[in-house]
Formats: sequence, C-alpha cells, structure tokens
Amino acid sequence: MIDKLQALKQQALLDLEAVSSLEELKNLKVRYLGKKGSLTEILRAMGALSAEERPKVGQVVNEIRTELEEKIDACGGLLEEKTLAEKLANEKVDITLPGRSVKIGHLHPITLTMREIKKIFMRMGFAVCEGPEIENDYYNFEALNLPKDHPARDMQDSFYITEEFLLRTHTSPVQARTMQSLEGNAPIRMIAPGKVYRRDYDATHSPMFHQVEGLVVDKNISMADLKGTLELFLREMFGNSVKVRLRPSFFPFTEPSAEVDISCVICGGSGCRVCKNSGWLEILGSGMVHPNVLAMSGFDPSEVSGFAFGMGVERIAMLKYGIDDLRLFFENDLRFIRQFK
Ligand code: DAH
Repeated sequence: MIDKLQALKQQALLDLEAVSSLEELKNLKVRYLGKKGSLTEILRAMGALSAEERPKVGQVVNEIRTELEEKIDACGGLLEEKTLAEKLANEKVDITLPGRSVKIGHLHPITLTMREIKKIFMRMGFAVCEGPEIENDYYNFEALNLPKDHPARDMQDSFYITEEFLLRTHTSPVQARTMQSLEGNAPIRMIAPGKVYRRDYDATHSPMFHQVEGLVVDKNISMADLKGTLELFLREMFGNSVKVRLRPSFFPFTEPSAEVDISCVICGGSGCRVCKNSGWLEILGSGMVHPNVLAMSGFDPSEVSGFAFGMGVERIAMLKYGIDDLRLFFENDLRFIRQFK
C-alpha cells in the first residue's frame, strides 16, 4: 500500500509540473485530493488493513497530502503572478504617443488696453470706481450740468429704454455718483472704466464702446494738475517722445474745457493720412469741473476744485496697435484677435 501511495505521489508531482493554468491546477487538486480523489480512495481502503499497519499508512497519507497541498498552493501562487504579469503586459499604455496640447486663450486687445490704462492711473494713486450701464436721465445728463432740452445732449445720440432710463452715453455719470457717495468729503482721485452706448456706426464709431473717466477733487486743484497728470499718462501709454497739447473746447460739465491732443504716433508729427496732415491726434476730453457739477453733488465750489477727463479706449487701442477700423474689435474674427497673443 505504501508503494502505491509513493507511486501516486510521483504521478501527482509529474502532473503538477505539466500544469500551465489555474484551471488545470484546480482540476488536478480535485483529481488527487478531492472527495472522490485518488488519495481519498486509498484512505477509504485503509479499513482493510491491520491495526498495526493502519497508523503507519495513515501517517504516510497525511504526509503526502500535506506535501501535495503545499506544492499545489505554491504552484497556484506562481500561476497567479504569471497571469497578472501577462495581463499587465497586454494592457500596457503606449506613453510615447504625442500628447494633445491644451489651447490657451488670451486677452482681447480692448481688455489689454483697458488694463494698461488702469495700471498707469493706479500707480498715480487713483481708485477704480464703477457705475451702472443702464443710467437714469439725472446722472447721465442733469447732474453733469446738461439740463433737459440742452442742445449739447444732441451730441450723444442715445438709446432710451424709457423716458427716464437710457444706456449711458458716457462714463461721466460715475463722477456724480462718486461725489454723492462721499458727501462732500475731498479728496477724490478716481477713474471709472466701462462700456458706453451711442447710436453711431462707422469705421471709427460703434454703438457700444469703452471709456475711462477720471475725476480729481481737492483743495487747490488747478489746470496745471490736469495737464501734468494727463501728460504723464500719455507718455506712459505712447512713449516718452510723445508731445501733448491742450486745445480750448466745450463740455457742459467742465469750465474751462480742453481737448487733449498728442503728436501723431504714426508719422511723429510730420503729417500723414491718420492725422489728416495736421501732425496731431485728438485723444481725450477734459476740463476743470464746473462749479454747478460740484455743488449739485454736495461739494462746495468755494472750498474745493477739480479736474475731469474722459477717453475712448478703442481710439487709444487703434492708435497704439495701428488699427484702422474700430469695427474689427467686435467682429470676433480670430485672424484679427489672435494677433494680440
Ligand atoms: N463725457 C465726454 C464724452 O463722452 C468725455 C469727457 C470730456 C469727460 C470732458 C470728461 C471731461 O470728464 O471733463 O465725450
């Protein structure tokens, strides 16, 4: 019987060596160690043995069972590792494929110009204030010394929503709003950037455009402060060689008023198509805040004075980047937009 057992073990070990999958291994285990397996059968036949032989054979059976179990388990471990390795090899990702780059956008030229303007004034200590784009008649006109039926209202052909409300035609209403909110307490040093609306449409006008308003109110503010501030700004914006001149003008909310010109950035002042051979470009409107405007918004004109200015951002961007049609800014043609990366 012992011989039979040893032969069985040899056969089992041979079979085990030939096993190449977990499935085969499972079958082998059932075949030798299962309930109807070869080893179990031998065990059953033990009843026929003598009382003397039985424990000896029993011991050998147990030894063989343990040995086979251990070897089968070890083989199972190896097979599992092998299967995993194969799986990993098959599922390998090819990391040498070129990646797809993420497209990164960039700022619109108007935003770039706006930011540059803000940056220059913020360095000079100006605060940035904002007001609503839907404005009422009072702030858009009356508080700026433009009473109802004033002929100067005609210069700003406007989008009315009701009798009372309109899309603001300029950023100047933020002047009155800021003064009001400060309740007569100077100093004020602020700029107000934003969108404004007028019924215009041609190569240099669009129904929506951007302005930056400026307002300074304090004791002893003079025309010299206005000129110095705007000269510094324009040099920062267009370069140190730019010349600045003030030309008398009219705005209802300033007195005196001045149109500010810079020497032509295209021809340097010698005369070209852009400056219509004058050598100068009109760049912004300005003036000393009208006493009525100060008084209407709660400041005493005998105590304080101020200057104000307003500029068109598109116009500045056109001159800075050499663009000849303002409508390009809003057509969203990527061939145009992408040049400002
Ligand atoms: N509001 C004027 C416009 O829209 C621009 C302007 C001119 C603003 C003179 C001012 C100023 O503050 O003092 O054309």
